[in-house]
Amino acid sequence: MVRLKTVKLLRESVVRWDEYPFNIPPIASLDALEITSRICFFVGENGTGKSTLMEAIAAHYGFGREGGSRNFSFETTPSLRSIDSLVRALRVGFTNRTGSGFYLRAESFFNVASYVDSVGGIDSYGGKSLHDQSHGESFISLLQHRFTRSGFYVMDEPEAALSPQRQLSFLVLLHDLLTNNDNIQFLIATHSPILLAYPDAQILSFDGGHVREIGYRESQPFQLVSRFVAAPERYINALFSDKSDSE
Ligand SMILES: Nc1ncnc2c1ncn2[C@@H]1O[C@H](COP(=O)(O)OP(=O)(O)OP(=O)(O)O)[C@@H](O)[C@H]1O
Ligand SMILES: [Mg+2]
Repeated sequence: MVRLKTVKLLRESVVRWDEYPFNIPPIASLDALEITSRICFFVGENGTGKSTLMEAIAAHYGFGREGGSRNFSFETTPSLRSIDSLVRALRVGFTNRTGSGFYLRAESFFNVASYVDSVGGIDSYGGKSLHDQSHGESFISLLQHRFTRSGFYVMDEPEAALSPQRQLSFLVLLHDLLTNNDNIQFLIATHSPILLAYPDAQILSFDGGHVREIGYRESQPFQLVSRFVAAPERYINALFSDKSDSE
């Protein structure tokens, strides 16, 4: 069974604390994380290190830097990110690493689509080039056709492609996959209050300078969006008047 269980920073292996990625507070203060659910979310403000840590975990599983599956060994940007030092300093515990899976980075989805075309793999993606589908359609097509096997699935902000309605469909798809296959796990970075609502998911927040587990209703996306939609005009007025006060 593939299962990510622990992520531990070996502090003695860190050489430069003043350089990326160890100058990011939640990475620098990382100790040992226990991953307790088959669906784990990373949440937190922009720039708090979610993608950085996710990429290092993905590298430990054997995914390429630009995403894709483990046998998608293409790299269009050498040294896309200088996270090698983090990969070396992390001890990542999987119960088993032999399964399949997919690593989906929003930035490199275009390259994944080109690669699928170039190796003639479109049959496993709905029989139509991912380039000839809209962003959201191609994303859902990838999920439906490729995210079916046992394995470890890593996704960075999947909501970027999805309308709110499709985010609900995505939750249903995740639920189907998780209930029909014990041997599947998802690690997802998100800002979406819809995706975060998945029941019994583990939510790890990167806010406040360190990584800690929080409840759904404590999460910033839930808190902010629920306050906003409760009274958008009032919220906007307050925002704009704060701004004009400071001008
Ligand atoms: N190659 C790099 N060299 C130096 N700094 C970098 C590099 N890549 C990212 N950073 C910085 O590291 C910090 C964390 O970036 P990261 O992409 O992990 O954040 P994130 O939590 O995923 O943010 P977002 O929610 O915007 O996706 C940011 O301040 C970013 O500017
Ligand atoms: Mg990110």
